[in-house]
Amino acid sequence: MESLDLIRVLTARAAVRSFADQPVLPEVLAQIIGVARWTGSARNRQPWRFVPVFERELLEKLGGLGAYAQHLASAPCALVLLSADNGFQDTEFDLGKVSQTITLAATALGLGSCLATIYPEVNVTAAAQLLEVESGWLPRHAISLGYPGEPVSGSRAIAAGRLSTAELLTTHRP
Ligand SMILES: Cc1cc2nc3c(=O)[nH]c(=O)nc-3n(C[C@H](O)[C@H](O)[C@H](O)COP(=O)(O)O)c2cc1C
Repeated sequence: MESLDLIRVLTARAAVRSFADQPVLPEVLAQIIGVARWTGSARNRQPWRFVPVFERELLEKLGGLGAYAQHLASAPCALVLLSADNGFQDTEFDLGKVSQTITLAATALGLGSCLATIYPEVNVTAAAQLLEVESGWLPRHAISLGYPGEPVSGSRAIAAGRLSTAELLTTHRP
């Protein structure tokens, strides 16, 4: 496959929120992070850490810490993304970049994934306490990871598809 096609196939993989009853082995997570750690960040700060969660009780509690985070509760595993509480404007941008690498690597290994936003702020604090996160680190997002299960039937809450290239590649300037 051409490398551009490969990137397209990996990137276009829809979010997966339903998972097969198959564990994600710690070695697989290590493979994913082994790729994701090469993601570039502003001033190479690498303002990220990753907490793997496998315990069902913890996953269920995390699933209650965001209005759309329920998929964490039924995933075999979640990777909680910690962002450095360092006040730099680029930090959450960096976290977005590394999340994308994690998602692409997971897809390449046959896993499905979906982001979850932990919010409001009180839930970020609750997640930090739950996971006994060191001070200076904030669990603002988590990624459900698992082998894809049967897709959930019924109407989607969010529209699928994407804007076209023409819509995105705008010539309008302020
Ligand atoms: C920053 C960010 C936060 C997201 N938070 C959630 C979330 O809390 N719950 C959820 O189910 N999906 C979440 N998603 C996944 C998006 O809803 C999904 O990528 C988008 O709707 C496109 O859907 P598709 O990948 O299935 O095409 C998030 C995605 C991003 C990039």
